[in-house]
Amino acid sequence: MTEKRPEVKILDVTEGSEYQRWLYTCFAMSFVKHEKRREYLVRAIPKGFHKKLLILNDEVVGQIEYVPAEASGFPIVGDNVIVMHCIWVLRKAKGHNLGKKLFHEMLENKRSASGFATLALENHWSPWMKRWQMEKLFGFKSIDSMEVRHRLKQMRECFEIHLMWLPNRSDSKPPRWDKTKLLEGVDFCLAHPLYHPAKTRQKEIFERC
Ligand SMILES: CC(C)(COP(=O)(O)OP(=O)(O)OC[C@H]1O[C@@H](n2cnc3c(N)ncnc32)[C@H](O)[C@@H]1OP(=O)(O)O)[C@@H](O)C(=O)NCCC(=O)NCCS
Repeated sequence: MTEKRPEVKILDVTEGSEYQRWLYTCFAMSFVKHEKRREYLVRAIPKGFHKKLLILNDEVVGQIEYVPAEASGFPIVGDNVIVMHCIWVLRKAKGHNLGKKLFHEMLENKRSASGFATLALENHWSPWMKRWQMEKLFGFKSIDSMEVRHRLKQMRECFEIHLMWLPNRSDSKPPRWDKTKLLEGVDFCLAHPLYHPAKTRQKEIFERC
């Protein structure tokens, strides 16, 4: 008997589909219509924000989110730079080059970009957006970093935030970031490890180590 080949598709949820609620959710949390996220999407979608899902045999097993720097939820600036907010493939779907497939979808879609930037973490307690993964699996390089601690949790632990860069051309100008702004954290995604909780009164949720 011949085995059925897995059916893999990539779907852009910013274009409207039955999966649209994924604009507000991910594997880390259940569906919440988060106000800051809603405001962010209203601003970012017309400026080229994309969230794409990786669907394996009708099950969502991965996602990638990217946006031109001027509409990014990270304080990164750069001429014609695309910022990848997140890439994620569930463990059960790993080992089939699906992460690479999602990543290449972004590279193909933004072929005219000067390059791609993201933030990665080192020595952070969460398993997310690890620097080594971004370097080894996708070819990003760290071009700057800062060591910080969270002011509200795990306060004794210092970790590094890295600005990662993957130029698309040899003469591309690297992006810049606003480190002071980043000490406030980010509010466009509830699940991001640098998330700024809505309830806190502190402006800066991180401080330099
Ligand atoms: C990074 C990630 C997307 C990679 O996806 P994946 O589907 O597992 O990776 P792929 O199968 O496409 O593998 C790509 C390459 O990396 C290698 N690789 C994958 N996982 C690896 C690991 N843990 N160690 C070493 N190499 C690894 C593969 O062998 C492959 O190499 P090749 O091109 O030489 O064959 C996935 O591991 C992930 O989701 N990690 C968590 C990311 C995250 O934190 N997301 C949340 C953001 S808030």
